[in-house]
Amino acid sequence: MAAPILAGGVSGVLAAVEALRAGQLVGLPTETVYGLAGDARRPDVVAAIYAAKRRPAFNPLIVHVATLDQARELAGFGPLALRLAEAFWPGPLTLVLPVNAGGPVCELARAGLDTVAVRVPQHPLARAVIATFGAPLVAPSANLSGQVSPTRAEHVAVDLADAVALVLDGGPCGQGLESTILAPTANGSLLRLRKGSLGTEALAALGMRVTDAGPGSQVIAPGMTLRHYAPRARLRLNAGSPEPGELFLGFGAWPEGARGLNLSAAGDLREAAANLFGYLRSLDGQGDAIAVASIPQVGPEASLAEAINDRLTRAAAR
Ligand code: TXA
Ligand code: MG
Repeated sequence: MAAPILAGGVSGVLAAVEALRAGQLVGLPTETVYGLAGDARRPDVVAAIYAAKRRPAFNPLIVHVATLDQARELAGFGPLALRLAEAFWPGPLTLVLPVNAGGPVCELARAGLDTVAVRVPQHPLARAVIATFGAPLVAPSANLSGQVSPTRAEHVAVDLADAVALVLDGGPCGQGLESTILAPTANGSLLRLRKGSLGTEALAALGMRVTDAGPGSQVIAPGMTLRHYAPRARLRLNAGSPEPGELFLGFGAWPEGARGLNLSAAGDLREAAANLFGYLRSLDGQGDAIAVASIPQVGPEASLAEAINDRLTRAAAR
């Protein structure tokens, strides 16, 4: 049976907060993807999240707070981190920062690291729940570990039916790709641990440049393993058109006679990002093989195309 889905009004928010106070888990909409939210202070709650997602306990969670002030209670902000937070919060940016000793986030949420990943989401329901709850929430994407992230309340209600007390319905996620994860380093440079909804163009506009974290980097995101976001079906990338027996996940022009879904007929990258995970799920339920159109990394939002291609490459890895 699917978990209950509550409309996102005042009574829905209060029910979610009540469940969280009782140590239960809640499906929470954010502007990026739906999160599996729980009290970040309680190791028993965090353990329940790892178990529900079947997530290895060495893979730390993102802590969600309502304001920069609240974030500063848990992590140390240098000048670069402060500039980033002031420019992009609330929004799809996660910062990996040194954890404050004696701060509220339990060690299990950080998987024992001396850093903590923190973000201030923009979605009004996420903000209302966190502010009313009054303490930090951990919220990994509300999918089973390694599978496709959820962008609608129904995805969570089905995938994590036994784990959540309820799912708050915030409609389809506006951004559709997870937050961009950045780690400011001691020498003033910026490491990107995960490509995401916040593009490099917005950072460049502030004169900031990122280096992508690699195997030898000082910091990495333990969760960025190659095979990730994986549907059951086989994915063939950069396809011009589907072969017989393949469904098509298109972008822009639609090949005649193809069966499938178009991420954006207009070739709009924002629309494509918002549709990506939902369409992957939907096609995965309809066939064993999916051909995917190429998503050109050009134009004023090329880095969004890069983030989409990053997810597609991981989804295609075997
Ligand atoms: O958009 C998002 O960020 C969504 C919504 C729900 O907020 N959340 C999300 O969480 O994507 P999750 O748990 O699916 O991804 C968290 C990523 C993982 O790859 C994890 O390894 C990395 O963040 N991470 C968390 N804490 C970290 C830390 N202290 N150092 C490095 N990486 C960290
Ligand atoms: Mg995830």
